[in-house]
Amino acid sequence: MSGPLVLAIETSCDETGVAIVSSGRRIASNQVATQIALHAVTGGIVPEVAARQQLRWIVPTVQAAMAEANVDWDELDAVAVTYGPGLIGSLLVGVSVAKALAMVHDLPLVGINHIEGHIYANWLTDAPVADPLPAEPPFPLLCLVVSGGHTQLVLMQDHGRYRLLGQTVDDAAGEAFDKVGRLLGLPYPGGPAISEAAEGATAATRFPRARTAGAYDFSFSGLKTAVLREVAGYRDRGDPIPIDGLAAAFEEAVVDALATKTVAAADEHGVAAVAMGGGVAANRSLRSVLRQRLDALGLPLLVPPPAWCTDNGAMIGAAAGFRFLAGDRAGPALEAIPNLSLAWTEA
Ligand code: KG4
Ligand code: ZN
Repeated sequence: MSGPLVLAIETSCDETGVAIVSSGRRIASNQVATQIALHAVTGGIVPEVAARQQLRWIVPTVQAAMAEANVDWDELDAVAVTYGPGLIGSLLVGVSVAKALAMVHDLPLVGINHIEGHIYANWLTDAPVADPLPAEPPFPLLCLVVSGGHTQLVLMQDHGRYRLLGQTVDDAAGEAFDKVGRLLGLPYPGGPAISEAAEGATAATRFPRARTAGAYDFSFSGLKTAVLREVAGYRDRGDPIPIDGLAAAFEEAVVDALATKTVAAADEHGVAAVAMGGGVAANRSLRSVLRQRLDALGLPLLVPPPAWCTDNGAMIGAAAGFRFLAGDRAGPALEAIPNLSLAWTEA
């Protein structure tokens, strides 16, 4: 394998992800310890619980990733870690462990923004090592980042060069899925549960699409309230709540809002392709609607496989491959930054 071999750690929220990635492209190992079953009990993430679980799982997950890749520490070129945005307690676990590993094994440390990781999941490949690397995503690239914490349309002019075109003014798309899932009585996390309920169902109503001041901004909190009102209406009338139909109507509204603005931005900025990242990018309906509408413009849509859309270490290793080659190094003073933003370039 050529290119830097990086051990990458992701602990920004409730997944403990550790991967080993070469050249920012090829996955040698990718281990994720998930807390979904634990948070399903409380119907959402309790930050202190998430941080304690990160602490519980980080060392075994590092060991599992090293074993899966079958590499020794002296074969690695760097240690990379997500230092934000995310939950402070969870981030601190990854950052502290990454710093310690880098120091003990005398390896450079690379700090990665979690959102950049979601974008770089599009550079990952599981092509056999004997095969040549597939082509890289082309620039300019329009990135739709849709996760539990973020909803952003980002124009990427080159590696590490980002322009923010729009973002949510209230709830993130994933957050809306999770909140609506809860109010429909579906299991946590709401995203996959709503997607499953909506599959094959007919929308019970048509929810209004939000208007925003910014052409490429999003708003999902009004939609959440509309679902709440609809549910209350059924309750008041003593009618059974059409869970699947409401899930379908909600999903349709979110997908339509995301796809409409993404296609408009792609058209206006003359991009070479559109890429998605983040947990909501795993949504089947979003993938197919966006693909259909971009097909009409002759634009390719890049979407990582679902397991690389939700939080994982490999996406951090992908971003780190490029940051490492660009000479980016974090010192031992690297700190976790819960509200870290990408560094935006001007128009
Ligand atoms: O990227 P991610 O794993 O963590 C954050 O950085 O937030 O995204 C998690 C979010 C959750 O809100 C979850 O409900 C949503 O992604 N999600 C989905 C699907 N799978 C995960 N939303 C819609 N459809 C899905 N299939
Ligand atoms: Zn994420």
